[in-house]
Parts: sequence; structure tokens; C-alpha cells
Amino acid sequence: MAEFRLPPASRVQQGKSHDAAGAQAAKAKNFKIYRWNPDNGGNPRMDEYRIDLSKCGPMVLDALIHIKNDIDPTLTFRRSCREGICGSCAMNIDGTNTLACTKAIADVGGDVKVTPLPHMPVVKDLVPDLNHVYKQYEEIEPWLQTDDPGTDRERLQSAEESDTLNGHDGHGPAACILCFCCSTSCPSYWWNSDKFLGPAVLLQAWRWIADSRDRAQKKRLDKLEGPFALYRCHTIMNCTKTCPKGLNPAKAIAEIKKRMISRKTAT
Ligand code: SF4
Ligand code: SF4
Ligand code: FES
Repeated sequence: MAEFRLPPASRVQQGKSHDAAGAQAAKAKNFKIYRWNPDNGGNPRMDEYRIDLSKCGPMVLDALIHIKNDIDPTLTFRRSCREGICGSCAMNIDGTNTLACTKAIADVGGDVKVTPLPHMPVVKDLVPDLNHVYKQYEEIEPWLQTDDPGTDRERLQSAEESDTLNGHDGHGPAACILCFCCSTSCPSYWWNSDKFLGPAVLLQAWRWIADSRDRAQKKRLDKLEGPFALYRCHTIMNCTKTCPKGLNPAKAIAEIKKRMISRKTAT
């Protein structure tokens, strides 16, 4: 049987251990955290931190902040809102892409393993390089496009039209926070991210195609024609399963495909 291994320079090695909890801690927890510093040039490694949970808040992000502030200031990660709103603390925790600020430590049995979002270049430690996904986001032109003259009033929508964007339960495509947990969980995106836009960007594409105020639907659909940008989605559904905001990118992709078919049958 063929055996596949990472190239030697990419193999993750055992790193340093830090016991910051001590023998007396009533509630100690072990965190295993991916570390890689491009300035050092070495292999990535998993560092271990045994921490006292009474010294931090209940979420994984609280533990990371405690480690950075009190144990190891070299640990690098993104965060901003700590409310599940900005999307910057997306990472893989306990094998699932999610937001560190909304993932409870208590929901992880055993050691808490934390790695960057998978299949993305790493800038440092838990920080992925998002330049490529942002470039793809730019390609779908995520802004309102109209052909009528400007107005000094809001462009109104009916409640039903607004529901298409916001969802009647608040889980419509406009609620996407662009954390990219979905795209980085999608096997099609892992292998074809150069040409397949991935679920996060396609959900955003649908958000504009479905907007009753937008007049660029034809151009938006034209840009998604071809075998890769849209049709590399094979409905594997990892994206919907992992979305920490409870959104449904797989359904959004299916809606775009339905629009594609209906405009073909209409011509
Ligand atoms: S449904 Fe499509 S976009 Fe979502 S994980 Fe599967 S292949 Fe990827
Ligand atoms: S659909 Fe969900 S997982 Fe994907 S980018 Fe938006 S909020 Fe994140
Ligand atoms: S810090 Fe903003 S979503 Fe987690």
C-alpha cells in the first residue's frame, strides 16, 4: 500500500512543555498548540501548556489570551471582537474549524488541540494567510450594483426580499462573518482553491445575486460559469456542518446552481 508523508520540513514535531498550573491547581487542562515561526526556519511543532482554568474565562480564546499574557508572549493568533462577530479567531479546535471565542473549553474532552485553519499557508503560529481568499472575495464584486440614478433615500425591500438575505431566523447569507471555517473544511477547496471559489465566497456571491436591489445578476452568474468557480462543489456538506454561525453555504451554492439552470432553460 502506498504510504504518504509530509515533506520532512513540514512534519510537525513535539515542542516545549509549560506547566503553569502546578500541582495544586484544582482545575488543570492541557492545551496542545501548533507553533511555527518563519523567522526561525525550523519545522512546525506542537507546544503543550498545562494551565489552571480558574485563571481564565470559559472559552478557548480566553485560554489563549491567558497563555499569551501570563505564560508565553510569543504565541501568535488573531482575535478582535471576542463575540463571534469579526471572524478573526477562526482556527481548528479539537479537529473542527470554529471560532475560539465561542468554543467552550468545557466542550472539549481531554487535551485541547489547537491548529490553524487547514490547507492555508501559515503566517505564524495560528495565523493563516488570507490574501488568496480575500482576492477571490474581491472577484465576486461584493457591493450593490444598480443602473438607476442615485437616490437620496434608502433602496427599500419588502419583508420577504429582506428575508432572502437575512433569513427569517437570522441565518441568511448576510449573517456571514467571513471567518472561512467553511472554505477550509471543504475537500474540493483544498485541492482546487486556485480556481474553485469555495463555500464562503460563493455564499457571498449568492448574497448579491439574491439581492432584489442589485441589477448585476446576469454578470454575476456569467462570472461563475465554467467547470471550476462554482461547479467544483460536489455537495459534500462539510461547509454547512462546520459553520460556527449556523449558516448554510451548501444551500446557497445549490441556489446559484438552480439560477444557472433556470436561466438556461429560459433562453
Ligand atoms: S457542499 Fe460544496 S462547498 Fe460545501 S464542503 Fe461540500 S463541496 Fe465544499
Ligand atoms: S458561511 Fe459560516 S463558516 Fe463560512 S465564512 Fe460565513 S460564517 Fe464563516
Ligand atoms: S474574536 Fe471575533 S469572532 Fe472570535
